[in-house]
Amino acid sequence: MKAVVMKKVGGTDVMDFVDCAEPVVMPGHAVVEVAAAGVNFMDIGVRLGMAWTEMANPKILGVEGAGRVLSVGDGVDGFAVGDRVAWVYAPGSYAERHSILADSLVRIPDALDDRTATSVMMQGLTASHFATDFYPVQPGDIALVHAGAGGLGLLLTQIIKLKGGRVIGRVSSEDKIAAAKEAGADHVIVDTEGQFAEGVLHLTGGEGVNVVYDGSGPKTFHGSLDSLRRCGTFCWYGPVLGGPGPLDIMKLPKSIKIGYATFFDHIHTPELFRGRTQQLFDWVADGSLKLKIGGVYALAEAARAHLDMESRTTTGKLLLIP
Ligand SMILES: NC(=O)c1ccc[n+]([C@@H]2O[C@H](COP(=O)([O-])OP(=O)(O)OC[C@H]3O[C@@H](n4cnc5c(N)ncnc54)[C@H](OP(=O)(O)O)[C@@H]3O)[C@@H](O)[C@H]2O)c1
Repeated sequence: MKAVVMKKVGGTDVMDFVDCAEPVVMPGHAVVEVAAAGVNFMDIGVRLGMAWTEMANPKILGVEGAGRVLSVGDGVDGFAVGDRVAWVYAPGSYAERHSILADSLVRIPDALDDRTATSVMMQGLTASHFATDFYPVQPGDIALVHAGAGGLGLLLTQIIKLKGGRVIGRVSSEDKIAAAKEAGADHVIVDTEGQFAEGVLHLTGGEGVNVVYDGSGPKTFHGSLDSLRRCGTFCWYGPVLGGPGPLDIMKLPKSIKIGYATFFDHIHTPELFRGRTQQLFDWVADGSLKLKIGGVYALAEAARAHLDMESRTTTGKLLLIP
């Protein structure tokens, strides 16, 4: 089968589209035919050597996708050949076929196609976790959402709105304003230099926001701190773009709460994973949550998808099609 491997840590030149051994079905696993693989910023982090370092190179990139079950291993309950399934955190997803731990699989309802289901997995679960577990958004809350037109940002904006919150989106170019607004952002600030706090304070009558969602790297960190109101919450989540460096806890202002959010800390069992995914699928099926697929690439073009994501020109979800 064909797959996209990284032969070593580096730029997109380390990504090769090559023949790989067919996956073998193992106990507790299912082999799936991949219909769509999701591109996530963390894949760029893996390629740069920031994650999955315990797995030797060359290795197949990608952690998310949807497709059809081809075979099931011993001990797998609840899945059969032909089932349509989606998954997240399954390293090796940029491939035509993949062997996946059954605990990481969820059945796709008939109402959703494979591309839509793929698009809801990593970014949808993360957005749902941020607005539900990490900081449970209350009606009337105001949130600042960085990269508000990205795959995660669009879903996070919609979920905050579903919960009755208001959203100030921050994007890097005028071209992205429409996408952020379509997702429900009440205001959108264009900025790449960390100079957005003044605008946020102006829009909130000087009070600041209840919660900041910031995965945009060191440049935004201090502006995000300045954008918070008293006792606000800072949800930080961007390991690939880089952290703020060492923090002196006694210098943190306004009794804020700050933490590094990753969804699998809260959504850490197959039951929680399937329950939360089902809620996202239901929201998509009833029209409450709209997916924007901003780029569809052949699997062989994965390197181009990475370059596009890093260039800050994309909006919504990027997919690879085997
Ligand atoms: N902790 C978790 O559980 C978790 C889970 C999923 C994702 N994440 C993080 O969430 C962020 C978004 O991930 P995603 O997969 O949904 O990607 P995405 O938002 O679809 O695309 C990345 C966004 O980041 C911004 N960006 C790209 N390159 C940048 C750069 N060099 N400097 C600053 N901003 C840049 C761009 O927005 P603008 O150009 O408009 O700023 C772009 O829209 C990433 O930081 C990712 O690591 C964390």
